[in-house]
Amino acid sequence: MRRVRYEVNGGPEVLFCEESVLPRPAAGELLVRVEAIGVTLPTVRKVREGSEPMPLGGEVAGAVQALGPDVAGFAVGDRVTGLCFTDAYAEFAVVPAALASRVPDDASAVEAVALVRSGVVAGGAYEAASPEPGGSVLVTAAAGAVGGLALQYAKARGAGRVVAAVGDPAKADFVRALGADDVVLYGDTAWGDPYDIVLDGVGGELLSPAVRALAPGGRLVAYGSGGGTVEAYELLVRGASVIGFQMRMLAFGKPALYARRLREVWEMRDAGALRASVHEEIPLAEAARAHALIEDRRNLGKVVLVP
Ligand SMILES: NC(=O)c1ccc[n+]([C@@H]2O[C@H](COP(=O)([O-])OP(=O)(O)OC[C@H]3O[C@@H](n4cnc5c(N)ncnc54)[C@H](OP(=O)(O)O)[C@@H]3O)[C@@H](O)[C@H]2O)c1
Repeated sequence: MRRVRYEVNGGPEVLFCEESVLPRPAAGELLVRVEAIGVTLPTVRKVREGSEPMPLGGEVAGAVQALGPDVAGFAVGDRVTGLCFTDAYAEFAVVPAALASRVPDDASAVEAVALVRSGVVAGGAYEAASPEPGGSVLVTAAAGAVGGLALQYAKARGAGRVVAAVGDPAKADFVRALGADDVVLYGDTAWGDPYDIVLDGVGGELLSPAVRALAPGGRLVAYGSGGGTVEAYELLVRGASVIGFQMRMLAFGKPALYARRLREVWEMRDAGALRASVHEEIPLAEAARAHALIEDRRNLGKVVLVP
């Protein structure tokens, strides 16, 4: 099979495609014949900033090719999507069954990788903020895979004003089309009236202005891989809170809630409330171009690799 990997950390150019042996699923794992791979910012960062090469993990979708020992609930041929922690940029990938879920017949593998993980993060982050009906919401990285779904999720779940924050004015029309009532740029001096909830997928230097955008009693959910520091005094003066959200912890720590979030994503998609945007489908061998797109912060929605 073909797979993509790298031997030294660096920019997208370090990625290369090679022939490799088929992985074997261990206990509790599925071997999936991959039809689509979601490219994510943490993986892009790992390649450039990591201290040593690591397998390129991520979300994949395709058909179950083989089952490892002790797998229940799946059969060969089932169409699934799930997270792969080893080589996801490949024609076949191993996925823990606990993190796999069915893809409905009317959905493509590309839609599944654009919708499922990002939708669970969007919904999980929003619900982690204990939203109240009519509350105002600011979503950062709003044109990314998670952000675009978070805007729609908040609207569908009864939020009031939902504002998109993006790094580039060229993204404004895209996020408005997803339902944002207004758009602010990170560099703007003011981000509008204070917000009951901020969903932050950026972190880093954006975290402080994002906390200052909170209304009294507001909640910021930090789910991005950009790190950052929160000033306790900024929370104190607003009576505000910061909550961390991590999908992997939800999946392994609260499997029933994770399963509910998964169901909800497809139900909302069937009801027309949640639509995944795909920026581009890129051939596996051009993985470097996919990473460059994300590093350049040009994507509108999900970047997907296809073997
Ligand atoms: N907690 C979890 O379980 C979990 C799960 C999945 C994803 N995430 C995190 O959620 C965030 C968004 O993920 P995604 O899948 O929606 O992203 P994505 O589709 O890969 O796009 C990246 C987005 O992040 C923004 N961004 C901010 N800083 C960036 C940087 N330094 N380099 C590149 N892009 C940057 C970009 O837009 P702007 O330039 O407009 O900001 C872009 O919209 C990421 O930080 C990711 O690590 C967390």
